Amino acid sequence: MKNAPLEALKALVGPAGYLDAGPDMDLYLTDFRRLHRGRSPLVLLPANTGQVAQVVRICAQHRIGIVPQGGNTGYCGGATPDDSGTQVILALQRLNRIRQIDPLGDAITVEAGCTLAQVRQAAESADRLFPLSLGSEGTCQIGGNVATNAGGTAVLRYGMMRALVLGLEVVLADGRVIEGLKPLRKDNSGYRLHELFIGSEGTLGIVTAACLKLFPRPVERATALAAVADPAAAVQLLSALRTAAGEQLSTFELMPRLAVELTSRHIPGVRDPFSSAYEWYVLTELAASNSGSGSGIQTTLEEILAAHATDAVVATNLQQREALWRMRETVPEAQRHAGASIKHDIAVPISVIARFIREAGDWVTANVPDGQLIAYGHLGDGNLHFNIQQRPDTDAAQFLARAPHIHRTIHDLVAAYGGTFSAEHGIGQLKLEDMRRYKSPTELAVMHAMKQALDPQGILNPGKVLPAAGT
Ligand code: FAD
Ligand code: MLT
Ligand code: ZN
Repeated sequence: MKNAPLEALKALVGPAGYLDAGPDMDLYLTDFRRLHRGRSPLVLLPANTGQVAQVVRICAQHRIGIVPQGGNTGYCGGATPDDSGTQVILALQRLNRIRQIDPLGDAITVEAGCTLAQVRQAAESADRLFPLSLGSEGTCQIGGNVATNAGGTAVLRYGMMRALVLGLEVVLADGRVIEGLKPLRKDNSGYRLHELFIGSEGTLGIVTAACLKLFPRPVERATALAAVADPAAAVQLLSALRTAAGEQLSTFELMPRLAVELTSRHIPGVRDPFSSAYEWYVLTELAASNSGSGSGIQTTLEEILAAHATDAVVATNLQQREALWRMRETVPEAQRHAGASIKHDIAVPISVIARFIREAGDWVTANVPDGQLIAYGHLGDGNLHFNIQQRPDTDAAQFLARAPHIHRTIHDLVAAYGGTFSAEHGIGQLKLEDMRRYKSPTELAVMHAMKQALDPQGILNPGKVLPAAGT
């Protein structure tokens, strides 16, 4: 027998607007890391905000759970339905228009299904920069970037997605629409409502469009791979660069030797640019948005590296710059080629991060003999991907079986250092236990109250972000 609400949803979006069977549907049911797999009777692909609102209205009427999905590159299973087979997936990919670019006002208005690369390209064609920079930019979507409050490699200078949003258009859980796309830098007329939806991972509303900040394009860049003795030396280098270059410092990424080895081994075109092997490396970049600085930033970078790094390679042309960046950006891909990996996305205060790496690293060495630490990432933000890579010729299933214990130990240590178990990847369905363990009852109660106010029936991305109350 046909299910009337599902038939109504199909009729609403038309034949081009849904999938209910076939291999294509599979792509929507599994997350990028293949940690989560769900079931769903229907993937909806609405064509515009009006259709999204009507879809939500029908779902609200029948209490059907809705799982919003962007590029499906998220790391926490936030875009994957549960296995009840009752939740519909709402994929935003057809809302992919650049609505407006205002170079004078440094703003761009885009639909949620635009990929990040598309938005960066649109900005560039107007001689502006949209600075969010992630390895997944060709696939992830602006709606997903907003919903996860994405970070990446330019946060040091431009902030996370939250800092880049001027306004949002959002469909609420009852189908009403907040049309909040004003490109205003200042607006104190009551609560900044759009802020609520940034980082809410589809649990409070569905983002259908965003008005984003643009910046002048850097006209000059100085990029280097520096070798440093240890993370403490990297932090000293960071401090020296900040002092010398101020806001021109846009990237500061830590990589251990293993990251250089794995990328050189598994990624075509990547090679270690040094003739000696070092224990730790930093990819750093200064960028100037006006040409008035002459050779300034290159000289600044070279001087600081001469004083604070063990060795350094400074890119002298675009090709060399791209080669250095490729090494950093392909670390996750190289890790995948090299076997299983137990991942953490943590942040601690920068002042204690070197001590944290030492203590947590010693624990890994002593307790995970079949794993090797590969702690890399956004040191300039205090954010590390504190990953443990399966050693070659070890048993992946045995290695992964200890993941819960390892997560618990590392996250407890992070908490003791005043840090967070999720710096930029969010919670999804992966980190619900961590929410329960590390968030205070008061924080959780306030979050539940917000959820109750905006989605009293609990139809928006059920089972994500918030652990069930009282369990
Ligand atoms: P999805 O995975 O589709 O969804 C993520 C969450 O957002 C889900 O909860 C979903 O329900 C919700 N959502 C999606 N669209 C909407 C919408 N329109 N309205 C409401 N809710 C919505 N992340 C970083 O922060 N920094 C990095 O450096 C980084 N590097 C990465 C590198 C690689 C190679 C990969 C594969 C991923 C990386 N990520 C990184 C993770 C990921 O790309 C980001 O989290 C990204 O923001 C997710 O966007 P998406 O469109 O793929 O969202
Ligand atoms: C990165 O910074 O490379 C990502 O956030 C982490 C990853 O892709 O594993
Ligand atoms: Zn990252």
